[in-house]
Amino acid sequence: MSDKVYDVPAAWAHKAYVDDAKYKAMYAASVKDPNAFWAEHGKRIDWFHPYTKVKNTSYDPGHVSIKWFEDGITNVAYNCVDRHLDARGDQVAIIWEGDDPSESKKITYRELSAEVNRFANVLRNRGVEKGDRVTIYLPMIPEAAYAMLACARLGAIHSVVFGGFSPDSLSGRVSDCGSKCIVTADEGLRGGRKVPLKANVDAAIDLLPADSVDHVIVVRRTGGKVDMTPGRDVYYDEAAALVTDECPAEHMNAEDPLFILYTSGSTGKPKGVLHTTGGYLVYASMTHQYVFDYHPGEIYWCTADVGWVTGHSYILYGPLANGATTLMFEGVPNYPSVSRFWEVIDKHQVNIFYTAPTAIRSLMQAGEEPVKKTSRASLRLLGSVGEPINPEAWEWYHRVVGEDRCPIVDTWWQTETGGILITPLPGAIKLKPGSATLPFFGVMPEVVDAEGKVLAGACEGNLVIADSWPGQMRTVYGDHERFEQTYFSTYPGKYFTGDGCRRDADGFYWITGRVDDVINVSGHRMGTAEVESALVAHPKVSEAAVVGFPHDIKGQGIYAYVTLMDGMEPTEELRKELVAWVRKEIGPIASPDLIQFAPGLPKTRSGKIMRRILRKIAEDQFESLGDTSTLADPGVVDDLINNRQNKR
Ligand code: WT7
Repeated sequence: MSDKVYDVPAAWAHKAYVDDAKYKAMYAASVKDPNAFWAEHGKRIDWFHPYTKVKNTSYDPGHVSIKWFEDGITNVAYNCVDRHLDARGDQVAIIWEGDDPSESKKITYRELSAEVNRFANVLRNRGVEKGDRVTIYLPMIPEAAYAMLACARLGAIHSVVFGGFSPDSLSGRVSDCGSKCIVTADEGLRGGRKVPLKANVDAAIDLLPADSVDHVIVVRRTGGKVDMTPGRDVYYDEAAALVTDECPAEHMNAEDPLFILYTSGSTGKPKGVLHTTGGYLVYASMTHQYVFDYHPGEIYWCTADVGWVTGHSYILYGPLANGATTLMFEGVPNYPSVSRFWEVIDKHQVNIFYTAPTAIRSLMQAGEEPVKKTSRASLRLLGSVGEPINPEAWEWYHRVVGEDRCPIVDTWWQTETGGILITPLPGAIKLKPGSATLPFFGVMPEVVDAEGKVLAGACEGNLVIADSWPGQMRTVYGDHERFEQTYFSTYPGKYFTGDGCRRDADGFYWITGRVDDVINVSGHRMGTAEVESALVAHPKVSEAAVVGFPHDIKGQGIYAYVTLMDGMEPTEELRKELVAWVRKEIGPIASPDLIQFAPGLPKTRSGKIMRRILRKIAEDQFESLGDTSTLADPGVVDDLINNRQNKR
């Protein structure tokens, strides 16, 4: 923790949309009368038929139901594209920067409109209609934006699957939502390396019952050779040549689904987080404008992948609804060199830059010179998202990247929340390195103890949100009971975030990390249970327990305790084989950092694994293991400690 405070620079207080007094007044109004507040701000998007109802939400156990603007009719693609054509048709909507620094391209709103319509027609020609699910498994190329907006235009529900996921993970996500159409590319390109996306799609479809998927649309990215199944697969450019660039925007109810995005929880398979149309767009666009203090004409860059919610809300929907110029980057921070981010900022004159603590920590390791040799004079605001940012990384980001001139907005939110919930507003709220500071308009955080008692003043406990906001997820796709169970049963009547949190004497929030069996590896969310089930699927593994451990770059690393089948040798070879196995089962982001072969795991007499002990050992906190006397075999603990694997 750091006790440094950075006051709002005077210039910011004057020029930003919101200063301290306005924040206080608007926040007070937003929580006093949410209906009146959102009735007003819902108008920031265009409606074909205006809403007459605003908030209709219930967190009551057994009857959780969330509706916003429920009788309004609109279309997300219309709001992100068409409505800007008159005023800014020739303004750049998307700047695309390729993996290779010699490749980039600018797409105006008018061009975007034609591309989205064309893509929508290609989908429509394949029978895609309102309510259908379309899986998008693409690299960071403009077609990812076209495909998402094309779905929104038709009223189809997109499910974007990050290109780093394995065929196995992809097939699970395709079958869970029953999508009959997959959009992919021949290959992706990241850091100079090719990613076999189409081959992965083929392998994923092979894992599904015959005829599950009717259409695979393949965007040519590298031109690499891929297998095409006649009648099922088509190259996008060939299909697009046959259609026009005119396609009407479907009239969508505010509560019609917009997208599904799978995310990991503490138990079971990934959940299909469902977001709907009106409330989501109002919230994504409003937070984008106020949190980043986005002014017309500015160049805004969020480095996330569209496969994550950050890419949905803050590369695509929020910025485009606001008529912004949003930069989309195909590559990685260290290719061709560790100066890449800063070079892209200079090349495209980026004003607002939003990235993740893990990227900052890894670039920090390379020292200041790769940053300082670039200008970055265009920058005026920096942002952070994905995990708690440690004060050292915050200070480096502020001093070296932002040259003490740019405020940092540390934005706390989740896939489930649709948009940012706790964050500084740069013209209004002072900064404390490591704190996400204060709630956005309409957001009512509370800190509760284990029993659910609401704590007052400075305190530490679990973070809940007392009432709904428009961007909130509406359900788990196909499993409303799981939605209620996961988020509303721990503290009945409140949304439980899964995060621990401290509130200081100024009322500032400091997120301390997950309090459930979810770990955060380089800002990617991982259920320990998912990694465990991948490990036990290996024929030589009898049991596995996975926990997080502190990792200098990734924030948390993956520590796996593995018990082998009788007679199996715990070799270095097998260790490598298991890492490769998990990569294949889930994807590279789930690779265990450390594997400890354990003859036995610490279990209670009823057979429950005591993860608390495993966590402490992985954290090197051998003194604070707590009471181990209730273990069925307390002796296993010594063996676990003696064979603790070292951090790399
Ligand atoms: C979890 C949600 C929301 C975008 C990316 C991650 C952690 C996220 C912060 C932050 C501290 C953060 C939380 C949260 N998290 N942002 N600024 N400070 N923690 O979305 O994959 O749904 O993960 O990420 O633990 O619960 P996600």
